Amino acid sequence: MLKSKIGGIGYYVPERVVTNEDLAKVMDTSDEWIQERTGIKERRYAKKHVETTSTLGANAAKIAIERAGITPADVDFIIFATLSPDYYFPGSGVLLQRELGMQGIGALDIRNQCSGFVYGLSIADQFVKSGMYKNVLLVGAECHSFGLDFTTRGRNVTVIFGDGAGAVVVQPTEKEGQGILSSHLHADGDHAEHLAYINPGCHGGKHLGTEKYGFPEDDQSFGGAFLTPTMWDNEDYYPNMNGQFVFKFAVTKFPEVIMEALKTNGYTPEDLSLLVPHQANLRIAQFVQKRLRLRDDQVYNNIQKYGNTTAASIPIALCEAWEAGKVKEGDLVCLAAFGSGFTWASSLIRW
Ligand code: UT7
Repeated sequence: MLKSKIGGIGYYVPERVVTNEDLAKVMDTSDEWIQERTGIKERRYAKKHVETTSTLGANAAKIAIERAGITPADVDFIIFATLSPDYYFPGSGVLLQRELGMQGIGALDIRNQCSGFVYGLSIADQFVKSGMYKNVLLVGAECHSFGLDFTTRGRNVTVIFGDGAGAVVVQPTEKEGQGILSSHLHADGDHAEHLAYINPGCHGGKHLGTEKYGFPEDDQSFGGAFLTPTMWDNEDYYPNMNGQFVFKFAVTKFPEVIMEALKTNGYTPEDLSLLVPHQANLRIAQFVQKRLRLRDDQVYNNIQKYGNTTAASIPIALCEAWEAGKVKEGDLVCLAAFGSGFTWASSLIRW
């Protein structure tokens, strides 16, 4: 049976480095607290009015396309994973398509937050395995820096996140044993609000800009689309996280979904060449490593440099590992993610 492989991979992070000390200048936090609790030393922020989620994604995509040995004209389909799109709608997939001059092909945006890349990979895999497409471009990109609360109120969330993008081209392979072996996707909406960006949204009568433009008296609200001064003061208009609750779930679900992928294919943690976990928190990755008794060389982390880049974190880390020669043909690679939704997922690949 036809299988699919990652035929090209690339990543792009903005030039601007923001250190923990930089954040400590605008909110009550410290380098010591951030490093001790998360392992993060610095992150990148996109250049305002110049870079957006789709432009970061396009930069990563260009590299992936070139490394796959194709041109943008050869791409059959785009999948774009992000929780920080350029616009509320349309999605960033069509903007990336325009930027790379690939008009006409389908562009699918997916909203699975930290699990977005692994969910997207499973979709690309199905299209390629079925023979429908030969070159599927999958992008995970985020511009968190434009939507964070830089007051002390938001410090538990803001210090974690960074901007960046990663991309892969998924192609067919007929090489014996090679390719994506299986994908495992999960979600539990019971905990949706424990890690969420609640507004703007249409729940509870609060729709885009209602507070400024709506008619509170008769409930006939209509949208204004931008954050108004009243919104800036409302913590619902920023990402919120119940950190400890999320942490506890993450350290249970990561090992579970990794073991699910290994067991499905008759492997054990010892067989893994490399685990590339979503870069949520270095402490989470270390916990998972210990639980699965993996050696240091079996796990790749780079959250120290980039923070948590949500849908972009896995392709950025995978690409860095690949560039460093830590992912070679024949290696058994596991990608695993957990995040808002809650959603969690894994993918096992024979490179
Ligand atoms: O990628 C999506 C999935 N996300 C995750 O997996 C994140 C999971 N959660 C975490 O990584 C951790 O919960 C955090 C790193 C977010 C927070 O660490 P924590 O050890 O759970 O801290 P906490 O939220 O329980 O807060 C402990 C204390 C509080 O002060 P008090 O109440 O003890 O006085 C916070 O106000 O630390 C305070 N705090 C901070 N202090 C300095 C929270 N954030 C900061 C900060 N700097 N940035």
